Amino acid sequence: MENKYKLVFATNNAHKLSELRAVVGDSLSILSLADIDCHDDIPETGSTLEENSMIKARWVKEKYGYDCIADDTGLEVEALNGEPGVRSARYAPGEGHDSKANMKLLLSNMEGKENRNARFRTVITLISDTLGTHTVEGIVNGTIITKEQGESGFGYDPIFVPVEGDGLTFAQMTGDEKNAISHRGRATRALLALLEKLC
Ligand code: IMP
Repeated sequence: MENKYKLVFATNNAHKLSELRAVVGDSLSILSLADIDCHDDIPETGSTLEENSMIKARWVKEKYGYDCIADDTGLEVEALNGEPGVRSARYAPGEGHDSKANMKLLLSNMEGKENRNARFRTVITLISDTLGTHTVEGIVNGTIITKEQGESGFGYDPIFVPVEGDGLTFAQMTGDEKNAISHRGRATRALLALLEKLC
């Protein structure tokens, strides 16, 4: 009975997985890395979001054989010449992905800056035996505020106010509200539109 197209989402980030699954709904079956018994720490050695999403998707396709998608996301801040960008996860020095430390460093680098414009950009790469290799993108414009606001979401959500968001940060929105306008929501809907065309 269950005959949906199965795609592995190459992420260990539970927030990303649930955001993407919420947008995809019942149209596809999205498997996690745990579902395919992949516990690898997939390297992100590219110098662009496009390269990193390709590296992650290829890793799963080549090692595990599944049709796969991978996302890479960056927060690009105008006054910092697009930083942290592809280095968003590892912006602050030290081991691991420490969102608090990353936000603290970003806010300190933004001190005194009048231009607080920024955008989140998500690139999703699809690698499929039958559908080929494709890349889609989602962008949301907004501003960096001076102090964290809100408890929901993850990463830089507490300091990012999207232009369409009534002045709330992503961390002050419900998951559905964030998905309706977010970089990942948009990239995921672009992926669904692409699959519709290809299938
Ligand atoms: P990556 O795509 O896993 O490399 O994520 C890059 C960095 O951006 C990480 O620090 C994430 O926490 C952060 N990030 C990714 N997506 C979001 C988001 O939707 N909101 C806030 N931060 C995010």
